[in-house]
Parts: sequence; C-alpha cells; structure tokens
Amino acid sequence: MIPLPLALSDSFGRRIEYLRISLTDRCNLRCVYCMPEEGVPYENLDNVLSFEEIERVVRALASVGLKKVRLTGGEPLVRKNVPELAARLVAIPGIREVTLTTNGILLARDAQALWEAGVRRLNLSMDTLQPERFIKLARRAEFERAWDGLETALAVGFSPIKLNCVLMRGINDDEIEAFGQLTKDRPLSVRFLEYMPIGQVSSAQWRAHYVKNEDAVAQLKALWPDLETLDDAPESTSRNFKIPGARGTIGVINPISHKFCEGCNRLRLTANGKLVPCLADNYEYDLMGPLRASCSAQEIREHAAAALAHKPIQSDFEGRLARGGSLRTMSQIGG
Ligand code: 5AD
Ligand code: SF4
Repeated sequence: MIPLPLALSDSFGRRIEYLRISLTDRCNLRCVYCMPEEGVPYENLDNVLSFEEIERVVRALASVGLKKVRLTGGEPLVRKNVPELAARLVAIPGIREVTLTTNGILLARDAQALWEAGVRRLNLSMDTLQPERFIKLARRAEFERAWDGLETALAVGFSPIKLNCVLMRGINDDEIEAFGQLTKDRPLSVRFLEYMPIGQVSSAQWRAHYVKNEDAVAQLKALWPDLETLDDAPESTSRNFKIPGARGTIGVINPISHKFCEGCNRLRLTANGKLVPCLADNYEYDLMGPLRASCSAQEIREHAAAALAHKPIQSDFEGRLARGGSLRTMSQIGG
C-alpha cells in the first residue's frame, strides 16, 4: 500500500482536487452518443453507493486537498434526495464547491432545493434547441421539460449556467449560431464538446460524427468577426469567447483535438464504487469492497492514492478504441 499522502496527487505530481461522483447509472433519456436505444443493464441498487458512503469518501479526501465535487449520473436527479446529499457535502470542511451535471428533465422540481443546499453552479446538457430533433438525439420527447428546467434554474439565480452541447456531424452541427445567439441576453456559458468515443461505438461510427472543435471556432469567428477571446484559468478544460455585449459566453472543450491532461486535477467515482482515474482509460479501482468492509478514512485515502498511481499522463481515446473500446458507457462512468 502507498504511504499516506499529505496532498492527493498522481505519479506525475498533478494535485487531485476535484472528484466527480456518479450518483446513479440510471437515466431518463437515451442520448445517442451515450447509451444504446435499448439502454444498458442497470446496476443492482444494492451495489450502488449510499449517501453515507459517498459522504465518507468526500470527508476522507477533503482532508488531503479535495476541494470540489461534481454530482453526475446517468442522470443524478433520478435519485431521491440529491439536494440533501449536496447540503451534507457542502458542509464538509475543505469542500469549496459542490456542483451538478444534469439533463434538466427534473430540474424544475429540484432547482430551488439545490440552491438552498448551497449548490451555486450547474451544468446542463442540451444538444439541440429543436424539439423534433431532441426526440432523435435523446430518444425521448422531453425538450420542453429540459428547457423548463433551464428557465427555472435561471429564475432561481444559478449564474452562469453552463450549457453543454456535444457537436455531432450531420446531427446538430448546424446549430452553432442558434446556441451562440442564446448567450446574447442570458447568463449562459454555452460549451461545445467534442464527441468522444465512449461506450458501444465503432471507430467508423465515431469518426463519421466527430467534429473537430476548431471547425466550430472557425464558424463562430465567421459569424461574429469581432468575437472576443477570454482569459481562461490554467486548469480550465474549455477555451472561451464572447460576442461583444453578450451576457453569456461561448466555449469549446476539446478532449480529442487538444488534450488538456497537463492540468488535470480530477478523479471519478462510479455509482458502483469504482475509482476511475481517467475517462479515456478502462482502468478502475474497487473502493466499494473496502467501504463495505468498514475501512477507515485513512484507508480510503490510501486506496485513492493506489488508484491514482494508475492515472495516465495523457488521454488516449483513439488508442483505446483501437484496442476494443471502452468497457463502460458514459452513463456508467459519469461524465
Ligand atoms: N462525448 C462527448 N460528451 C459526452 N457526454 C456524454 N457522452 C459523451 C460523449 N460520448 C456529455 C454529456 C454531458 C457531459 C457530462 O458529457 O452530454 O453534458
Ligand atoms: Fe442520460 Fe446524460 Fe447519457 Fe443523455 S448523456 S443518456 S442525459 S446520462
């Protein structure tokens, strides 16, 4: 076992300050880039981390430098009482920020309670602004509910809200302008994400729909020649721009064309209790066993350090694809 770390870091000296926790592998949508139409077999609920177990992990890691927690899924809000968990995590000494990534379907119901729990930042996945297209992309006729979730969250005061749009060739890459327009009068940070080969996708299928984000940036600059380039924090995974006078911003996240691994400060925890050091790598480390065997906070830290010893220096999505692809879908890892 690796000796007690004072600050959680990997073998390349990157400090780990950010834990993304998947609360569930379940989801109320079936986005084409994430899950097959028929879904994926769900984890037995007995094998899903309880809120108490999640709290133990965050408390243990907060004492060695964990500062930020993001709750993801599947769709995190399909789990009951997420605001209550958020409040418990916000209260842990050292934790500065608890955020949530959601598809918005249940956000109108939960936005106020999340705010009261101390959550101040939200990421909302929104890949199209066209209700008909939403049905094809998310395989559910739920655009209005997602939009209603966004409007409610804005009204509650979340600002800025990050709107994640996975660009796919021939599917939604004609909506760059419409998404850009949204930022003019709303405090939204629209971010175009490069489509990543995760889950059951062949190399040919992935390549057919992958859009290099440089293409999106070129389109943005053609549409708005006076587009301003913003200064981004060094650990930022996005490059951001602003239409002059707009309330919001437009960004691109390029996990494929420009890897941002150098500043990577994150670790993932799946709903079934595996630590995943890198989204682009199939390696996972079981924490559920130790947690259920009542391990100590010190042992949780040692297990995290052991998992982090396997964090690669750089992502290699294409290498993994060539070796047979990812073992989990995005909904089973947690974005
Ligand atoms: N490629 C890029 N982004 C993806 N997401 C889910 N699957 C993929 C993929 N294959 C996005 C979701 C969500 C975020 C967590 O990741 O839309 O916004
Ligand atoms: Fe659900 Fe998110 Fe996957 Fe869409 S991308 S199916 S909303 S988990």
